[in-house]
Amino acid sequence: MRISVIGCGYLGATHAACLAELGHDVLGVETDPRQRALLASGELPFHEPGLDTLLATHVASGRLRFTDSLADAAAHADLHFLCVGTPQRRDGRGADLAQVDGAVEALAVHLDRPSYVVGKSTVPVGTAARLARRVAELAPAGADAELVWNPEFLREGHAVEDTLRPDRVVIGVDTHRPEGEGLAGKVLRELYSPLEDAGVPVLVTDLPTAELVKVSANAFLATKVSFVNAVAEVCDAAGADVVALTEALGHDVRIGNRFLSPGIGFGGGCLPKDVRAFGHRAGELGVDSMADLLGVVDDVNLRQRSRTVAAATAMLGGSVTRARIGVWGAAFKPGSDDVRDSPALAVASALHARGASVAVYDPAARETGRRMAPDLDHVGSALEAARGADLLLHLTEWPEFAAADPVAVGAAVRRPLLLDGRTTLDPAPWRAAGWTVRGLGRR
Ligand code: UDX
Repeated sequence: MRISVIGCGYLGATHAACLAELGHDVLGVETDPRQRALLASGELPFHEPGLDTLLATHVASGRLRFTDSLADAAAHADLHFLCVGTPQRRDGRGADLAQVDGAVEALAVHLDRPSYVVGKSTVPVGTAARLARRVAELAPAGADAELVWNPEFLREGHAVEDTLRPDRVVIGVDTHRPEGEGLAGKVLRELYSPLEDAGVPVLVTDLPTAELVKVSANAFLATKVSFVNAVAEVCDAAGADVVALTEALGHDVRIGNRFLSPGIGFGGGCLPKDVRAFGHRAGELGVDSMADLLGVVDDVNLRQRSRTVAAATAMLGGSVTRARIGVWGAAFKPGSDDVRDSPALAVASALHARGASVAVYDPAARETGRRMAPDLDHVGSALEAARGADLLLHLTEWPEFAAADPVAVGAAVRRPLLLDGRTTLDPAPWRAAGWTVRGLGRR
């Protein structure tokens, strides 16, 4: 199929490259000139395992090209994926839909033959129905320009795998159309038929349900993390151990052991903002119970950061001023160089603001970390971050840190104090090497 992908950030670049991989002829639309130039030369502007190869292969094969023109996109394709960002609004009140509205309006005026606009961006429920009406109003093709919603569930660090082998595909169709599922639904089902043939469940819903599946999934995952972090705080108060507890909890198949790792909390470009936007939208719809629930999830999550800062301060005897602190990790999670709303950088910056000298090392996020937090010292190795430290913080659970030699690291620091903010390091070898090890919720 001839396809356009509008917005080539994390989601769009991955989707475009994976569609090219599935054999389609893809035109990516990206308005940022730097991002577009990099993509067009086959170079990925961010860290994502496997995507660099796919991009380079399909730019070279000619199956994946880039433009800044929506007119080009309308001329090239009949199927247009909308992958632009929906950041948190500056006033904190819900999602900023300027990019989605702008792209739909600018594209629709060029749709002069039967065409399908497929929303993938994460939006507040009700947006897709409004956009479906707008597309039909503005498009010269009228009602032959259809809109469907096909939310994306990909995780950073697993983006290619999640796109080519997703847990499920959800297609939200405009049930107000006289022909039911509409042509757009049929075209999408055909597009995803290789996945369906491989056993991926394809679920067709109405538009608001499809929008809500996405935000509910993110809200549920965030709730799970905040739940376990609240339990960790009870463990601290009661002298229990959260790691032993979660291991026992995870054996209950109804609960499972995924997304149950306690620590400094969730971050990144999606979960925090989507939880806030969903809470805000629920409140607008008069569903205060959901707004309240998600407000608490967000509060518990942010509280992990201040609890970590307090624990670090306590380990240093009540003050961090002039202490040297080594920080392992800047990315919001391992496998990524993304530092958006990163709990690791937030904790490191808070300690720096309290007068500590902070050296940060992250295997992938050195440059992005430096841009986000230029006041911190961003160093080139785990050992360098530890050198001369009064306290070492483990804040992003890269495998490199789990494999570190506690004896060698112990020889580099000034005081062997370790705060494990991800509760993933095995304390035994560290203690055997003379370290004092602490973790939130750990005995
Ligand atoms: C998330 C959703 O998983 C994905 O489906 C959606 O499309 C986008 O948002 P992502 O932002 O890539 O994906 O990160 P994810 O792997 O979900 O982790 C989010 C955060 O939660 C990270 O900061 C991670 O460190 C934290 N986390 C995760 C925990 O603190 N504990 C856990 O047990 C799991």
